Amino acid sequence: MAVLEQQVTSQQAIELEDKHGAHNYHPLPVVLTKGEGVFVWDVEGKKYYDFLSAYSAVNQGHCHPKIVNAMVDQAKRLALTSRAFYNDVLGKYEKYATELFGFDKILPMNTGAEAVETALKLCRKWAYEVKGIAENKAEIVVCENNFHGRTTTIISFSNDPIARKNFGPFTNGFIKIAYDDLDALEEVFKGNKNIAGFMVEPIQGEAGVFVPKEGYLAGVKTLCNKYNVLFIADEVQTGIARTGKLVCVDHEDAKPDILILGKAISGGVYPVSAVFANNNIMNVIQPGNHGSTFGGNPVAAAVAIAALEVVKDEKLAENAEELGQLFRAEMNKFIETSSIATLVRGKGLLNAVLINDTEDSDTAWNICMKLRDNGLLAKPTHGNIIRFAPPLVMTREQLLDCVAIITKTFKEFE
Ligand SMILES: Cc1ncc(COP(=O)(O)O)c(C=O)c1O
Repeated sequence: MAVLEQQVTSQQAIELEDKHGAHNYHPLPVVLTKGEGVFVWDVEGKKYYDFLSAYSAVNQGHCHPKIVNAMVDQAKRLALTSRAFYNDVLGKYEKYATELFGFDKILPMNTGAEAVETALKLCRKWAYEVKGIAENKAEIVVCENNFHGRTTTIISFSNDPIARKNFGPFTNGFIKIAYDDLDALEEVFKGNKNIAGFMVEPIQGEAGVFVPKEGYLAGVKTLCNKYNVLFIADEVQTGIARTGKLVCVDHEDAKPDILILGKAISGGVYPVSAVFANNNIMNVIQPGNHGSTFGGNPVAAAVAIAALEVVKDEKLAENAEELGQLFRAEMNKFIETSSIATLVRGKGLLNAVLINDTEDSDTAWNICMKLRDNGLLAKPTHGNIIRFAPPLVMTREQLLDCVAIITKTFKEFE
């Protein structure tokens, strides 16, 4: 029988991955085979609400027909040319996306980490060729507890010991400061003429959905302007309507010099990422400086146009804003009398609940297992935090249904 036609049970699928795949993840034991909107189904036919959205990649809902059709139609016509030749979709995508996000130019890549790497290279090149920093002296400021991906350079400035251990030697040229601390940022800018950029997540997602104080992003922009440092916003997780605006920096009108997008720019059906900047920055990149065989391929371009149109047509930012407020209000009501959940925080539909136990406890994991049994999929981060980030196509009724599942499950742990 053809391999793809072989039926597997959950147990068999888990055993196959365990035996033949590298153990670089620790998935919740559930084996999914189908998705539609806010729902996914396992191979035994059980239906779940998805409250992770593939780490905010599936903002438009699973298998959105408009996005899938764009992908299939394009894949049937022309899938990949490389950038050795032009194709008739990339330019349309570039025009649409740059107008939507308000930049002169886009540099298309595939994954979030690749887009972050691209932004770092762009920032350094700008520093040498426009700002006038001496060769190899440029430094980029980042934040403690950041998460920007998994490449060697990116983990060089992570402070997660598990992500770093035994992967050295690391890349130089990065300075870490506290998140959500404008004084620390100005301090580092003041004392160092070689700073090229400041890269920051508008909300620290992987760290546990840390929302900075109001005014932080606007303050970052002001300081970056004052010291001629590029403000680089990594919106791979917070972008594409997730936090209630098209991009999270819009909450404070804090447009960055370089914007990094990934994940939901494709609605999660295909790896697409992008770096945006104006000409005074992007024009330092010349043929041969940077590239990717798949970056900007016709399928990616068609998918991204469709995925961005869905965000606009279905008013996903507005829905995320409204449902996010409802979620936090309902969870706050519950937390008032709960001994297991202590705090809910977030923006739009990027939220986290703090579990009343230590980081090394397995309580949050056990709660996620029970949530699974009760028909809702979520995943702990940092041991005692559970992230709640459903697709943005959720309805009010569905959200209230989910709150009922979550609070009922939490009560089983009181
Ligand atoms: C803020 C941020 N940047 C970058 C990345 C890396 O994206 P990818 O996993 O597509 O490389 C992530 C992934 O979670 C992220 O949250």
